[in-house]
Amino acid sequence: MMIESIRHRRSIRKYLPTPVEEEKLQAVLEAARLAPSGEQQTALGFIVVKEEAGRVALAEATRKQMWIAEAPIVIVAVADVEAAVWM
Ligand SMILES: Cc1cc2nc3c(=O)[nH]c(=O)nc-3n(C[C@H](O)[C@H](O)[C@H](O)COP(=O)(O)O)c2cc1C
Repeated sequence: MMIESIRHRRSIRKYLPTPVEEEKLQAVLEAARLAPSGEQQTALGFIVVKEEAGRVALAEATRKQMWIAEAPIVIVAVADVEAAVWM
């Protein structure tokens, strides 16, 4: 039941260094592509960051939330905030 998934959902900020299988990454990207968005700001794309230097740079840029750099993969959604469409 969906309500059970919502009840058990939680934020994860600790990660194993285990590599993520390509098929799992592609499944996550497909789900992200199909996700709805506020103001019709459909993501222009997703940047998959695997290299440690890139992950550390992203963590530094998010008010030093360094746990972000510990994830084996970080996905950045890119949107054009000027192109919002009100229906
Ligand atoms: C729009 C949005 C932005 C968020 N940004 C951050 C963030 O920058 N860093 C972070 O650690 N958690 C972020 N969160 C997660 C919330 O802080 C988190 O849901 C809250 O700590 C409650 O924990 P829970 O998700 O385990 O219930 C964000 C959540 C939302 C909805």
